[in-house]
Amino acid sequence: MFIHCLTITSLFILITLASAQDNGEAIFKQKCTACHTIGKGKLVGPDLQGVTSRRDDAWLHKQIKSPDLMIAEGDPIATQLVKEMNGVPMAPLGLSDAEVDAVIAFLKNASKQQAAVDTGLPSQYFPTILISIGVLIALTIIGLLAGKKQVEVR
Ligand code: HEC
Repeated sequence: MFIHCLTITSLFILITLASAQDNGEAIFKQKCTACHTIGKGKLVGPDLQGVTSRRDDAWLHKQIKSPDLMIAEGDPIATQLVKEMNGVPMAPLGLSDAEVDAVIAFLKNASKQQAAVDTGLPSQYFPTILISIGVLIALTIIGLLAGKKQVEVR
């Protein structure tokens, strides 16, 4: 029974992760592509390719949620970025914490996918492969459980 719960929980987490990422992608396309690309050079703001390895999560969260605060507080990286972007600061977009996390998850994955493309792996298969592995593990566990029950009957 315990393993059963575990299986269902892990499946649930997998699905949530997959959809949180879709959500992040939608937010990015809606609110960020006017000023940012991922791997296609800078627009109004910097190219966000690999930004999740350049900066830590807490910094990213704050930058995306309240870029104006970062500048008001004199954050050294944000101040430098504004200089590099010809004095244009990023505008606060009014995202919720959950939306910011979803966008960060998307950025992380987008950088990974770009890296995969660079090494010649077709990136669009990544989510499918991940979910397939999850389902396979779940099926194996369910199979093991069913097997156990038969033994008990004998
Ligand atoms: C109006 C244009 C604009 C929009 C829209 C915008 N940004 Fe920015 N962004 C900028 C500018 C300009 C900078 C650099 C100056 C600064 O930090 O304020 C920046 C900086 C950043 C940085 C730091 C980059 C680095 O190299 O460290 C991140 C991360 C970022 N933006 C993410 C986002 C995300 C995610 C969204 C959408 C939710 C978004 N931005 C929407 C203009 C924009």
